[in-house]
Amino acid sequence: MDSIRIQGGMALQGKVRVQGSKNASLPILAATLLVREESLIRNCPRIADVYSMVSLLKSLGCGVHWQETGIAVDSSQVCRCQMPREAVRGMRSSLCLLGALIGRCSEVVMEHPGGCVIGERPIDMHLSALEQMGVEFVEEEGSIRAFSDRLHGAVISLPFPSVGATENIVLAGVMAEGDTVLEGAAREPEVSALCAFLQQCGAWIEGVGSGRLVIHGGRRLYGTDFTVPADRIVAGTYLLSCIGTGGSVLLEQAPEEEMQSVLEAAAQMGARVCTSKEGIYVQAPGRPAAIELVTAPYPGFPTDLQSVVLAVETKGRGVSRIRETIFENRFRIVEELRKMGASVELCSPREASVKGVETLRGADLVARELRGGAALVAAGLMAEGETFVEGCAYIYRGYENIGRDFRELGARVASV
Ligand code: EPZ
Repeated sequence: MDSIRIQGGMALQGKVRVQGSKNASLPILAATLLVREESLIRNCPRIADVYSMVSLLKSLGCGVHWQETGIAVDSSQVCRCQMPREAVRGMRSSLCLLGALIGRCSEVVMEHPGGCVIGERPIDMHLSALEQMGVEFVEEEGSIRAFSDRLHGAVISLPFPSVGATENIVLAGVMAEGDTVLEGAAREPEVSALCAFLQQCGAWIEGVGSGRLVIHGGRRLYGTDFTVPADRIVAGTYLLSCIGTGGSVLLEQAPEEEMQSVLEAAAQMGARVCTSKEGIYVQAPGRPAAIELVTAPYPGFPTDLQSVVLAVETKGRGVSRIRETIFENRFRIVEELRKMGASVELCSPREASVKGVETLRGADLVARELRGGAALVAAGLMAEGETFVEGCAYIYRGYENIGRDFRELGARVASV
């Protein structure tokens, strides 16, 4: 079932429930390592990256059980500090296990982490911050060995608000002796969700949601029952797909407050957006208006939705300009969209100019990364005729069941 077949050309209509957030679940699951008791993490999405994190936690000695409403993790018996090669290589977010494990054990061995092929993705900020907190690193045949006799607080300033580095610093900081002051922290809602989980376990963190975090380390953490918020990127994918097909959709439980930049972009594209307790309701014009879009760290427009905007604007009225400022390899779908008749020019490796066409035609496409893959499915929904998207394993890393969700919105989509 690695391909998705789409019979396009129909406007999305109806309502769909938005799954729990991938990028909040993963560091929260890693954080359960710091709690020497059982925690219940509700609303974790059933996606490949969460399954990988669960098997990583099991390999370290945690008792992990899926329940109907969430995942129960008992980390009282952690017995290993070496992460299995294959699991780490395939998943960038295994990197947050570094901060958590170094908080739990005094020595950690892991491979250089993998993840989507959307750019170089160095880990220098993670390493340098942890060094400032008393961790030493040795590189050995492709793996990293980290040691710490005494993890301590520090004053750290990040040159760029890296989400993963912020999460690692928070995870190590709650276990460190003394206070950690982090300037230039990422403000993404997933960082706030991690802090909220830790606070619920008994951690003392100030400045949550701001660019300056103060983590008072060394407090005892207790098991808790925590609900992961809805996934703003999945909600945004469906919202933008609705705009691409000219439909009207209710996104149940969509996290409206975290989606202001996306809702602003939707309004610029000519969509009517209303928010209520139920979620976000979007009603799209026939074809979207062209836009100027620049990705930026939160609260700016998320890089994870840039590909979907690009796909949608292939049918825009006019010429859109899209600039990517976070990852350098996020225009790999352009070649695929051209197979459908899209008119996209790359002005530079980080800037695309999209001249909207009246119709896209179905084509055989290949997904090469998670969000780009979802964008190709959106393009398939907008096209006349049949589209096959191959390589959907990437999409299942982040979307529970994109085919089911689009079918609920009336689309003709099948996994093949
Ligand atoms: C997180 O990745 C997300 N992943 C990504 O989502 C998301 O695109 C990204 O944040 C930006 O919002 C998870 O949460 C699991 P960064 P992360 O560190 O933490 C550079 C998705 O599709 N950098 O904020 O890896 C880096 O190269 C995924 O769900 C360094 O130079 O992103 C990039 O240009 C994909 N050195 C920028 O910072 C470092 O040490 C932002 O990266 C770390 C990062």
